[in-house]
Amino acid sequence: MSAFTAHRDAEAAQARPHPAIQVENVTVHYGEVLALDAASLVLEHSRICGLVGMNGSGKSTLFKAIMGMIRPDAGRVLINGAPPAKARKEGGIGYVPQSEDVDWQFPLSVRDVVMMGRYGRQGFTRRPSKADRAAVDDALERVELSDFAGRQIGQLSGGQKKRAFVARGIAQGATMMLLDEPFAGVDKRSEATITRLLRELATDGCTILISTHDLHALPQLCDEAVLLMRKVLMHGAPEVVLQPENLAMAFGLDVLNRNGDPNHGPGAGQRNGQRNDETGS
Ligand SMILES: Nc1ncnc2c1ncn2[C@@H]1O[C@H](COP(=O)(O)OP(=O)(O)O)[C@@H](O)[C@H]1O
Ligand SMILES: [Mg+2]
Repeated sequence: MSAFTAHRDAEAAQARPHPAIQVENVTVHYGEVLALDAASLVLEHSRICGLVGMNGSGKSTLFKAIMGMIRPDAGRVLINGAPPAKARKEGGIGYVPQSEDVDWQFPLSVRDVVMMGRYGRQGFTRRPSKADRAAVDDALERVELSDFAGRQIGQLSGGQKKRAFVARGIAQGATMMLLDEPFAGVDKRSEATITRLLRELATDGCTILISTHDLHALPQLCDEAVLLMRKVLMHGAPEVVLQPENLAMAFGLDVLNRNGDPNHGPGAGQRNGQRNDETGS
């Protein structure tokens, strides 16, 4: 570590004395269903963390708890040491929801969706300023969607839709991005664009939590990984979390069938467009 980076790290620690995300013993029920069971996780700033777990393991619930969209039955979430409502109000958290959670028929253009990231700055009238428009244009350019700005959001491909939501987070100036399965049903170009952008954002100080079924891409994509099965079973370097015996804990024993049979192992259900569980999500 150079004197410069040591100095910069010390400065950053002073500016950001708390971890980016603290999830402490968070329990969430939906009626009788236990979705999160005393889940705990600490994520430091500027890290990219992959969230891995089978369908129904509580990934989306964890995102919603971190966003403050769901109030836990027990435990708490802190963002930069404060309740999520504060970070949300300040526009600090960018959220790319899983496709199932979005109404794609809604009459909003791509530009409108990205402009939503600026609402917090527009006050009561919601009249975009020059700076708002410039930020939206810039974000659209970064996700390579400038040519699609006028399209209704539902008229985009799966990957373009994800990129539009990433652009919303960028326009927002979010210091944290939560991406719920951004690669599900996404073309290779979008996947590559999103992966590149996430790395750029993390380098600029953004903290990123991303759920994915693409275990092969995990070591390239992430600095660390979390195995979720209602609880955080494991949190560590991607290579360690991906050890077959660890994946078996989260996915069941068929993950140990790694002889290239595409109908077995992690992501098999995803590739076949099926669910891995009976409960759904
Ligand atoms: N709105 C809801 N109402 C009832 N049950 C839900 C709801 N959302 C999720 N669940 C249940 O909670 C569990 C965790 O779901 P979810 O967080 O969506 O998992 P994942 O994103 O890992 O697939 C599942 O059993 C799912 O069926
Ligand atoms: Mg989900």
